[in-house]
Amino acid sequence: MFLALGRLCTRGSRAKFLKTIYASKILGLSTSAKMSSKLKNAKRIEGLDKNVWIEFTKLAADPSVVNLGQGLPDISPPNYVKEELSKVAAIDSLNQYTRGFGHPSLVKALSCLYEKFYQNRINPDKEILVTVGAYGSLFNAIQGLIDEGDEVIVIVPFYDCYEPMVRMAGATPVFIPLRAKPVDGKKWSSSDWTLDPEELASKFNSKTKAIILNTPHNPLGKVFTNSELQVIADLCIKYDALCISDEVYEWLVYTGNKHLKIATFPGMWERTVTIGSAGKTFSVTGWKLGWSIGPKHLIKHLQTVQQNTIYTCATPLQGSMYDHSVNNQNTGKKIGRQVLHSWIQPKTVDPPLVESAEAESMGLEHPWILVSVRILEPVL
Ligand SMILES: Cc1ncc(COP(=O)(O)O)c(C=O)c1O
Repeated sequence: MFLALGRLCTRGSRAKFLKTIYASKILGLSTSAKMSSKLKNAKRIEGLDKNVWIEFTKLAADPSVVNLGQGLPDISPPNYVKEELSKVAAIDSLNQYTRGFGHPSLVKALSCLYEKFYQNRINPDKEILVTVGAYGSLFNAIQGLIDEGDEVIVIVPFYDCYEPMVRMAGATPVFIPLRAKPVDGKKWSSSDWTLDPEELASKFNSKTKAIILNTPHNPLGKVFTNSELQVIADLCIKYDALCISDEVYEWLVYTGNKHLKIATFPGMWERTVTIGSAGKTFSVTGWKLGWSIGPKHLIKHLQTVQQNTIYTCATPLQGSMYDHSVNNQNTGKKIGRQVLHSWIQPKTVDPPLVESAEAESMGLEHPWILVSVRILEPVL
């Protein structure tokens, strides 16, 4: 064995290896016992090794099983998105690393798009961060803003990663259920699931650092109303808490329902990180491209996490989010508005952003039907 090792190791490392064996013999430890204490997991991931997607995917590997786990859109990505990706592949510079906080043309395009909703200028460099999917935004926000000992309010049922991400940051998730009101004669709808304002207020205290909001909601298909968001906003302001608002389904709302951004409520911009995802919008979940939008005093902490973890996102995917043939009329420079512009005119989207009669008849307010979240039955 040593001969084989001798061939693999340099003289120095082989000497070190022999020294380790010798030292562990003196201490009465076997080599494996000594190593095993160092092979333990870090405390921050203790108990977080189970994951609903991994378990469901394993079970659904059997071809006779229908996978109702991980949800994918059954709508093809629009042609213009696929075409942009193929154009981008031919541009050398777009196959190399780009700016860590988001490709310059993409953050500009995003700021043009979102300014319309926030009615104020969004600084593309300081108030937008492009991330590896909405997951990346959630991770950066929670790691960058939540501390050990903090409490984070999580609305049940919730998208599965909220709880482990909060725990990984050393904070405590505090759960509040959406409760179903009895329905009298009327058709059941996802809007019948509501938060009890008093119960919600009872979850806030001086340790509350943030609430994680998800609207339009996965898995219920609920779109939070103006008055429901106002209750949350009032409590955030009263307790000086942050709001991490996961709005990945922001464009997928049925006629008659309106998606509202809590960051646009008075006093909320400065305490809200809003999260979006190209994956959901364009049926390109495999691209894992998302973004966070918020005031620079919050986004800078998310940027710190990103620059010290993944550093940057895939350039070609970011490049595919805008049309390279569009030039700014004044400067002649390429600008990235075209593709994003189509989002806010869903009727021009090819293929249209589908109205699924089936989902609507189930009382969902947006068409993303999800069955793959973790529902905490004891509190429902
Ligand atoms: C509510 C919610 N948030 C975040 C995500 C993750 O999105 P992404 O694939 O962009 O990371 C999902 C994916 O299903 C989701 O449903």
